[in-house]
Amino acid sequence: MEKDLKHHWDTTYERAKIEKLGWYEESPGPSLQLINKCNFTKSASLLNVGAGASTLIDELLKSGFENIIANDLSSKALDKLKLRLGNDESKIHWIVDDLTQPKELNNLEPIDLWHDRAVLHFFYKEEEQVTYFNLIRKLVKQNGFVIIAAFNLNGATKCSGLPVFRFDENILQEKLGGSFQLIEAFNYTYTMPMGETREYVYTLFKRVN
Ligand SMILES: C[S@@+](CC[C@H](N)C(=O)[O-])C[C@H]1O[C@@H](n2cnc3c(N)ncnc32)[C@H](O)[C@@H]1O
Repeated sequence: MEKDLKHHWDTTYERAKIEKLGWYEESPGPSLQLINKCNFTKSASLLNVGAGASTLIDELLKSGFENIIANDLSSKALDKLKLRLGNDESKIHWIVDDLTQPKELNNLEPIDLWHDRAVLHFFYKEEEQVTYFNLIRKLVKQNGFVIIAAFNLNGATKCSGLPVFRFDENILQEKLGGSFQLIEAFNYTYTMPMGETREYVYTLFKRVN
Protein backbone atom coordinates (compact mmCIF):
# COMPACT_ATOMS: atom_id res chain seq x y z
CA MET A 1 0.00 0.00 0.00
CA GLU A 2 1.33 3.40 -0.94
CA LYS A 3 2.40 5.93 1.69
CA ASP A 4 -0.37 8.38 0.73
CA LEU A 5 -2.98 5.76 1.69
CA LYS A 6 -1.58 5.59 5.20
CA HIS A 7 -1.80 9.38 5.20
CA HIS A 8 -5.40 9.14 3.94
CA TRP A 9 -6.42 6.92 6.86
CA ASP A 10 -4.45 8.86 9.48
CA THR A 11 -6.04 12.17 8.46
CA THR A 12 -9.51 10.59 8.14
CA TYR A 13 -9.36 9.44 11.77
CA GLU A 14 -7.66 12.64 12.99
CA ARG A 15 -10.25 14.95 11.43
CA ALA A 16 -13.52 13.16 12.15
CA LYS A 17 -15.34 12.16 15.29
CA ILE A 18 -15.43 8.37 15.36
CA GLU A 19 -19.24 8.41 15.59
CA LYS A 20 -19.47 10.42 12.34
CA LEU A 21 -17.35 8.05 10.24
CA GLY A 22 -19.29 6.47 7.37
CA TRP A 23 -18.66 2.95 8.73
CA TYR A 24 -19.24 3.60 12.47
CA GLU A 25 -21.34 0.98 14.24
CA GLU A 26 -22.74 1.69 17.68
CA SER A 27 -23.15 -2.07 17.99
CA PRO A 28 -21.42 -4.48 15.58
CA GLY A 29 -24.47 -6.79 15.50
CA PRO A 30 -23.80 -8.91 12.38
CA SER A 31 -20.17 -9.56 13.40
CA LEU A 32 -21.22 -10.62 16.93
CA GLN A 33 -23.90 -12.90 15.48
CA LEU A 34 -21.26 -14.76 13.44
CA ILE A 35 -18.68 -14.80 16.26
CA ASN A 36 -21.29 -16.40 18.55
CA LYS A 37 -21.62 -19.27 16.07
CA CYS A 38 -17.92 -20.15 16.48
CA ASN A 39 -18.27 -21.22 20.16
CA PHE A 40 -14.87 -19.84 21.10
CA THR A 41 -13.38 -20.35 24.54
CA LYS A 42 -12.37 -17.13 26.30
CA SER A 43 -8.71 -17.84 25.57
CA ALA A 44 -9.22 -18.02 21.78
CA SER A 45 -6.98 -15.66 19.79
CA LEU A 46 -9.15 -13.24 17.88
CA LEU A 47 -7.52 -10.96 15.29
CA ASN A 48 -9.51 -7.96 14.06
CA VAL A 49 -7.71 -6.66 10.95
CA GLY A 50 -8.14 -3.03 9.92
CA ALA A 51 -9.90 -2.56 13.26
CA GLY A 52 -9.86 1.23 13.08
CA ALA A 53 -11.82 2.47 16.08
CA SER A 54 -14.35 -0.37 15.84
CA THR A 55 -16.70 -1.03 18.76
CA LEU A 56 -16.19 -4.76 18.13
CA ILE A 57 -13.08 -4.60 20.33
CA ASP A 58 -15.13 -3.16 23.23
CA GLU A 59 -17.73 -5.90 22.79
CA LEU A 60 -15.14 -8.70 22.74
CA LEU A 61 -13.62 -7.34 25.95
CA LYS A 62 -17.08 -7.16 27.56
CA SER A 63 -17.63 -10.80 26.59
CA GLY A 64 -14.48 -11.74 28.51
CA PHE A 65 -12.17 -12.69 25.63
CA GLU A 66 -8.57 -12.62 26.85
CA ASN A 67 -6.56 -12.82 23.65
CA ILE A 68 -7.67 -9.98 21.35
CA ILE A 69 -5.38 -8.60 18.65
CA ALA A 70 -6.21 -5.30 16.93
CA ASN A 71 -4.43 -4.37 13.70
CA ASP A 72 -4.58 -1.27 11.54
CA LEU A 73 -2.42 0.55 9.04
CA SER A 74 -3.27 3.79 10.84
CA SER A 75 -1.77 4.37 14.28
CA LYS A 76 -4.09 7.40 14.60
CA ALA A 77 -7.12 5.11 14.25
CA LEU A 78 -5.83 2.75 16.94
CA ASP A 79 -4.95 5.75 19.18
CA LYS A 80 -8.63 6.76 19.14
CA LEU A 81 -9.67 3.25 20.06
CA LYS A 82 -7.08 3.14 22.88
CA LEU A 83 -8.42 6.42 24.21
CA ARG A 84 -11.96 5.05 24.32
CA LEU A 85 -10.86 1.83 26.04
CA GLY A 86 -8.96 3.65 28.80
CA ASN A 87 -7.31 1.17 31.20
CA ASP A 88 -8.55 -1.77 29.14
CA GLU A 89 -6.09 -0.71 26.43
CA SER A 90 -3.45 -2.87 28.11
CA LYS A 91 -5.56 -6.01 27.54
CA ILE A 92 -5.19 -5.74 23.75
CA HIS A 93 -2.25 -6.77 21.57
CA TRP A 94 -1.84 -3.82 19.15
CA ILE A 95 -0.26 -4.23 15.73
CA VAL A 96 0.25 -1.29 13.37
CA ASP A 97 0.98 -3.04 10.08
CA ASP A 98 -0.06 -3.04 6.43
CA LEU A 99 -2.11 -6.07 5.39
CA THR A 100 -0.81 -5.71 1.84
CA GLN A 101 2.85 -5.69 2.98
CA PRO A 102 2.74 -7.50 6.32
CA LYS A 103 5.76 -7.54 8.60
CA GLU A 104 4.80 -7.92 12.27
CA LEU A 105 1.59 -9.75 11.30
CA ASN A 106 3.71 -12.45 9.65
CA ASN A 107 5.21 -13.31 13.03
CA LEU A 108 1.95 -13.91 14.87
CA GLU A 109 1.26 -17.30 16.43
CA PRO A 110 -1.62 -19.14 14.68
CA ILE A 111 -5.01 -17.57 15.42
CA ASP A 112 -8.56 -18.85 15.98
CA LEU A 113 -10.36 -15.98 14.24
CA TRP A 114 -9.61 -13.57 11.42
CA HIS A 115 -12.25 -10.80 11.42
CA ASP A 116 -12.43 -8.14 8.72
CA ARG A 117 -15.23 -5.64 8.27
CA ALA A 118 -14.86 -3.11 5.46
CA VAL A 119 -11.11 -3.54 4.87
CA LEU A 120 -10.54 -6.14 2.14
CA HIS A 121 -12.70 -4.23 -0.35
CA PHE A 122 -10.03 -1.49 -0.52
CA PHE A 123 -7.52 -3.99 -1.92
CA TYR A 124 -8.26 -3.44 -5.54
CA LYS A 125 -5.02 -4.76 -7.00
CA GLU A 126 -4.56 -8.49 -7.62
CA GLU A 127 -1.20 -8.55 -5.79
CA GLU A 128 -2.75 -6.91 -2.69
CA GLN A 129 -5.48 -9.55 -2.60
CA VAL A 130 -2.96 -12.38 -3.08
CA THR A 131 -0.91 -11.12 -0.11
CA TYR A 132 -4.07 -10.72 2.01
CA PHE A 133 -5.36 -14.26 1.37
CA ASN A 134 -1.88 -15.78 1.78
CA LEU A 135 -1.71 -14.16 5.22
CA ILE A 136 -5.05 -15.72 6.17
CA ARG A 137 -3.82 -19.15 5.03
CA LYS A 138 -0.61 -18.62 7.01
CA LEU A 139 -2.25 -17.49 10.26
CA VAL A 140 -5.62 -19.21 10.70
CA LYS A 141 -5.45 -22.54 12.59
CA GLN A 142 -7.15 -25.70 11.43
CA ASN A 143 -10.74 -25.51 12.80
CA GLY A 144 -10.27 -21.74 13.07
CA PHE A 145 -12.67 -19.24 11.48
CA VAL A 146 -12.63 -16.34 9.03
CA ILE A 147 -15.27 -13.61 9.04
CA ILE A 148 -15.15 -11.19 6.13
CA ALA A 149 -17.69 -8.40 5.60
CA ALA A 150 -17.23 -6.37 2.41
CA PHE A 151 -19.37 -4.35 0.00
CA ASN A 152 -21.48 -6.81 -1.99
CA LEU A 153 -22.01 -6.92 -5.76
CA ASN A 154 -24.85 -4.36 -5.50
CA GLY A 155 -22.77 -2.21 -3.18
CA ALA A 156 -21.27 1.24 -3.61
CA THR A 157 -18.19 1.57 -5.81
CA LYS A 158 -16.39 3.85 -3.34
CA CYS A 159 -15.81 3.96 0.41
CA SER A 160 -14.03 6.78 2.22
CA GLY A 161 -13.51 8.33 -1.24
CA LEU A 162 -11.47 5.32 -2.42
CA PRO A 163 -12.45 2.81 -5.14
CA VAL A 164 -13.54 -0.60 -3.86
CA PHE A 165 -13.56 -4.18 -5.16
CA ARG A 166 -16.94 -5.80 -4.50
CA PHE A 167 -17.46 -9.40 -3.35
CA ASP A 168 -19.94 -12.18 -2.82
CA GLU A 169 -19.49 -15.46 -0.96
CA ASN A 170 -18.47 -17.32 -4.16
CA ILE A 171 -15.65 -14.90 -4.97
CA LEU A 172 -14.43 -15.10 -1.37
CA GLN A 173 -14.58 -18.92 -1.43
CA GLU A 174 -12.53 -19.00 -4.61
CA LYS A 175 -9.91 -16.67 -3.18
CA LEU A 176 -9.69 -18.51 0.17
CA GLY A 177 -9.42 -21.92 -1.48
CA GLY A 178 -10.66 -25.41 -0.63
CA SER A 179 -9.23 -25.48 2.92
CA PHE A 180 -12.02 -23.13 3.97
CA GLN A 181 -15.67 -24.18 4.14
CA LEU A 182 -18.46 -21.62 3.93
CA ILE A 183 -20.61 -21.87 7.06
CA GLU A 184 -22.87 -18.87 6.53
CA ALA A 185 -23.31 -15.86 4.25
CA PHE A 186 -25.90 -13.08 4.24
CA ASN A 187 -26.39 -9.67 2.70
CA TYR A 188 -26.78 -6.81 5.15
CA THR A 189 -27.83 -3.20 4.66
CA TYR A 190 -25.84 -0.91 6.93
CA THR A 191 -27.20 2.56 7.71
CA MET A 192 -24.49 5.22 7.93
CA PRO A 193 -24.56 7.89 10.68
CA MET A 194 -25.93 10.43 8.16
CA GLY A 195 -28.72 8.05 7.08
CA GLU A 196 -27.40 6.73 3.74
CA THR A 197 -27.19 2.96 3.31
CA ARG A 198 -24.42 0.59 2.21
CA GLU A 199 -24.84 -2.99 1.02
CA TYR A 200 -22.52 -5.56 2.59
CA VAL A 201 -22.03 -9.30 2.32
CA TYR A 202 -21.12 -11.01 5.62
CA THR A 203 -19.41 -14.40 5.45
CA LEU A 204 -18.25 -17.00 7.96
CA PHE A 205 -15.77 -19.67 6.83
CA LYS A 206 -14.21 -22.52 8.82
CA ARG A 207 -10.76 -23.88 8.09
CA VAL A 208 -11.24 -27.60 7.55
CA ASN A 209 -7.72 -28.65 6.59
C1 LIG B 1 -13.81 1.49 6.46
S1 LIG B 1 -12.67 1.37 7.77
C2 LIG B 1 -13.34 0.03 8.73
C3 LIG B 1 -12.82 0.02 10.15
C4 LIG B 1 -13.36 -1.11 11.03
N1 LIG B 1 -13.06 -2.40 10.49
C5 LIG B 1 -14.83 -0.95 11.28
O1 LIG B 1 -15.62 -1.83 10.90
O2 LIG B 1 -15.21 0.06 11.91
C6 LIG B 1 -11.25 0.63 7.01
C7 LIG B 1 -10.08 0.44 7.95
O3 LIG B 1 -9.05 -0.29 7.29
C8 LIG B 1 -7.81 0.27 7.61
N2 LIG B 1 -6.88 -0.09 6.52
C9 LIG B 1 -6.89 0.37 5.26
N3 LIG B 1 -5.89 -0.18 4.55
C10 LIG B 1 -5.23 -1.02 5.39
C11 LIG B 1 -4.09 -1.87 5.25
N4 LIG B 1 -3.45 -1.95 4.10
N5 LIG B 1 -3.68 -2.57 6.32
C12 LIG B 1 -4.34 -2.48 7.52
N6 LIG B 1 -5.42 -1.69 7.69
C13 LIG B 1 -5.85 -0.97 6.65
C14 LIG B 1 -8.10 1.76 7.71
O4 LIG B 1 -7.12 2.48 8.42
C15 LIG B 1 -9.46 1.75 8.40
O5 LIG B 1 -9.34 1.75 9.80
